[in-house]
Order: sequence, then C-alpha cells, then structure tokens
Amino acid sequence: MAASGRSREERWSLAGKTALVTGGSKGIGRAIVEELAGFGVRVHTCARSDADLQECLRRWGADARLARVTASACDVAVRGDRERLVARAREELGGRLDILVNNAGQTMFRAATETTAEDYARLMATNLESSFHLAQLAHPLLLEAVAAASGGDASTSCIVNISSIGGFVSYPTLSVYSATKGAMNQLTRSLAVEWAKDKVRVNCVAPGGVRTDIANSSGLKLDPEVSLKLAEAEMARVPMHRIGEPEEIASLVAFLCMPAASYITGQVICADGGRTIAA
Ligand SMILES: NC(=O)c1ccc[n+]([C@@H]2O[C@H](COP(=O)([O-])OP(=O)(O)OC[C@H]3O[C@@H](n4cnc5c(N)ncnc54)[C@H](OP(=O)(O)O)[C@@H]3O)[C@@H](O)[C@H]2O)c1
Repeated sequence: MAASGRSREERWSLAGKTALVTGGSKGIGRAIVEELAGFGVRVHTCARSDADLQECLRRWGADARLARVTASACDVAVRGDRERLVARAREELGGRLDILVNNAGQTMFRAATETTAEDYARLMATNLESSFHLAQLAHPLLLEAVAAASGGDASTSCIVNISSIGGFVSYPTLSVYSATKGAMNQLTRSLAVEWAKDKVRVNCVAPGGVRTDIANSSGLKLDPEVSLKLAEAEMARVPMHRIGEPEEIASLVAFLCMPAASYITGQVICADGGRTIAA
C-alpha cells in the first residue's frame, strides 16, 4: 500500500473513469481513444466527419474493450457545436466526466505575410479557443466527478491538452500554428493553478513529429517532394532520428490521467525523441 493509501493496482488504474477526447477519428486522437478505452475508460469522441466516426465505431465495435466508445460529429471551431458536444458526452457517459483531452487541431504552413485574417481566426478557434471553451464547459462536470469520488480523490479529474513542440521552437511558415500551441502551453499552466483548489489537474503533451495525416486533414495540398525534404530535415535534428508513433503520445496521455500522476499538474511534457533538447 502506498503512502496515499492506494494500492499499486489502484494508482495505475483508470477503470470506471469517463473521458471526452476530441478529434478521435484519426491519428493521435484515435490512439488516445483506444489507449484510454483499453484501460477501461468509457470514452466519447468527436470529429467533423461523421463518416470517419462511423467507420471507427464499426471497427471499435468488433473489439470488446473498445465497443463502448461513443462518438458524435462536431466542429470544435464552432461555439454551438462545442456546447452540444459536451451535453452529448454527458448523456453518453451516464452524467459523469472525469477526463477531457483537447486533441483536435489543425496545422497551417503559410508565410506570415500571406496569412489572412480568416486563416488566423480559423486556426485560433480550432486549436486554442476550443481548448479554453471546452475546459470551461467541462469544469462543472469535472467538479461533480471529484465530489462523487470516494474521499474527494484529488487525482480523479483532469484535463490533458495536446499542443506541439511548435510552442517551444520556431519553424518558418508555422507562426500562427505555433502561437496557438504556445498559448495552449500557458493555458495549461494557468488553469492548473486556478483549478488546483478544485482538485482538477491540467497538463499538456507537446508532441514532435508524429506519423499522422494531419496535413491532409488540415486541407493542405503539399508537394510530396517538398514534404519529404522537410521531413528529412526535421528527422536530422531529432536525436532519436525517427518520427513518433501516435501510440507513443497516447501512452503519456494515459499516464497523466492516472492516479499515479496525482501530484503532476501544470506541466507541458514534450514527447519528441529529444528534438527540443538537442544542440
Ligand atoms: N502529427 C504531428 O506531427 C503532430 C505534432 C505535434 C502536435 N500535433 C497535434 O496533435 C493533435 C492531433 O493531430 P494529428 O496529427 O493526430 O492530426 P490528424 O491525424 O489530422 O487527426 C486530427 C483529428 O482531429 C479531428 N479534427 C480536426 N479538426 C477538427 C475540428 N475543427 N473539429 C473537430 N475535430 C477536428 C480530425 O477529424 P476531422 O478531420 O474529421 O475533423 C481528426 O480526428 C493536433 O492538435 C495537432 O496539432 C500533431
């Protein structure tokens, strides 16, 4: 038995928890949904494409651990959609929410001089405003989960934001994307301090390059040769000399949600093969 009075099994368990994970139909979000559900979490997720969600639900339905995942279409850039999403998640999760993962996001490669007011507003709404507003909407539900937990368990409720190493290092043509991610890092620290009294932990995972189709999902038409050159240049700067896999981000998210991480809040943890600490 640990000093906290919880056994090792309890500290490393998410059984019986509920979670809302945004952007769970592809890439990192899908890996997070599958990792949390694999630990016994009841997960609700969303994406803009209902067809992609239905395809995920069909696949998940064939696996006993994932069959309880539910989903609804939502554009997190739209305020009304966010309100409907949280109401739907609450309903699907039996009125209880322990975990919010703000993962849905898009990228944009555009020179600052060519970025329009619409580009700027769209990316801010998708990556940053959505994370703030969903945290606001989830807060009362997270408080209810704390109150319902036996002994007001301090590790029960948490938020994990998915930012990017772009919030730490600067890439040409990624100024607005990086600004959204740098702001998510600071939002994490600010909410962690503000909500510590509520026993809601707030942390952030900042991935480096991860093998997903984010450029395509973000509506970018990249020249394959240019993309390859950019990827090679980036990998040359990663001490581990490889790209990350979505599962390698999902495992860190799951850890941050566990009682084992009960003294960790306000942290932004890079999962980047060492990219941000290399000379
Ligand atoms: N891949 C990387 O190298 C990398 C590196 C650092 C950080 N990240 C961050 O990791 C997160 C996930 O990225 P990913 O690489 O997994 O991207 P992805 O493969 O494109 O998946 C993004 C997911 O979010 C959903 N989504 C996108 N825009 C949305 C919106 N407006 N409303 C609701 N859902 C939306 C997508 O579905 P729909 O398209 O159907 O909406 C999809 O399910 C993002 O926040 C990204 O910035 C990624």
